[in-house]
This record gives sequence, structure tokens and C-alpha cells, in this order.
Amino acid sequence: MQPTGDDQQPVVVAGVVCSPSRWNIQTKLGSNMMAVHNPVPQYVDHVGKAVDTTMARLRANQPMVRSNWTIEDHCALFQPVAPSGPLVQDPTKLWIRMERQTLRALPQTGGSMFTIRTYQQPITEYVARGADVASTLYSLVKRLPDDVAKYKSILHYREALLEWLAPFAS
Ligand code: HEM
Repeated sequence: MQPTGDDQQPVVVAGVVCSPSRWNIQTKLGSNMMAVHNPVPQYVDHVGKAVDTTMARLRANQPMVRSNWTIEDHCALFQPVAPSGPLVQDPTKLWIRMERQTLRALPQTGGSMFTIRTYQQPITEYVARGADVASTLYSLVKRLPDDVAKYKSILHYREALLEWLAPFAS
């Protein structure tokens, strides 16, 4: 990202994305953070301002680290496009997909760099880690607002997934 224009908002100027989670870098070039996150429900109301502030306060020697999670119905790391409909019906065929993201300032250019490392695991193995893991996942999935669940492609599976997860979570 590089600050651009009168307001010096960071916009995406270059990138390589080996493991896109159903988005495409080409459509993000030239966009600021609000525009990049346009497809993300509730971003403008709940997250956008905090992201802009974080970007403005970035330090080179202190990368910011965050994580993102989703559940997917295909294990390809390279998924630039969301399929038009669900690929499986059985919740035990789903995958947990986690991203470790970092964001840091690049002092020589005044820009910043965003990195994403993607991890995934069959949901059956992930849940087998323990009742605390299963229980956290259960409440995350249950609490997701419908529009966010739809964006994450979880809405279709939600009820079947919760029913399957419940015994592991208690
Ligand atoms: C503090 C920093 C950031 C926060 C809190 C944040 C938050 C989010 C959230 C909540 C989502 C939705 C993910 C989901 O629910 O599965 C998202 C998606 C995304 N974020 Fe960020 N983000 C941050 C920084 C960035 C930066 C620096 C970029 C740089 C390009 C970026 C690019 C994206 C993209 C491309 C998506 C997918 C959008 C789509 O579906 O088209 N994010 N982000």
C-alpha cells in the first residue's frame, strides 16, 4: 500500500496473492481500505475507522498481527473465486481456514506491507483438538450475524454444522 492523493490514504499499488480466499488482487489495485473491504458486511460501521487509524499509526519495527478465520467447502489454497453454490452438504467434509496476517510500515518508501499466511485443516481434525476448541468454534459460528455468515459462505451449512458440532463442544 502507498499513501495517495490529497488525503494521503493508503491504496493498494502492488501485490502477489498465492492463496486468495475468494477474492482477487486485480479488483483491489488502486483502492483504499474502505473500498478494498467493500464486500465485507458491517465493515464500514464496525471496523473501517479502526483500520484507517491502525494504518496511519503503523511502525516499521512493530508489525501489527491479526488473524482471520473461515470455514470452506474446498481445500484448494488458491481460491480466487467463490463457487456459485455450496460444494458439499455434509459438515464433516468442511475445512477450517485460518489466516495469520501482518501489517507493517516500510520507512524508505512511506508505504506499508500486508502479508497473509494461510493454514487449513479438515474440520474433523480441528475439532478433535479438544472441547475448548470445539466450543469456541461453536459459539463463533452461532453468533455470526447472517450477513457475515453469508459473506463467509457459512450460512448454508450453519444449522447442520452446529448440530454436528454440539456434542464436541459440551
Ligand atoms: C487492521 C487491519 C485490518 C482489519 C481489521 C481487516 C478486517 C477484515 C475483515 C473483518 C474482513 C472479512 C474477513 C472474513 O470475515 O472472512 C477482511 C477481508 C479482507 N481484507 Fe482486511 N482488514 C485489515 C487490513 C487489511 C489490509 C491492509 C488489506 C490490504 C489489501 C486487507 C484486505 C482484505 C481483503 C482483500 C479482504 C477480502 C475482501 C473481499 O471479500 O473482496 N485487509 N478484512
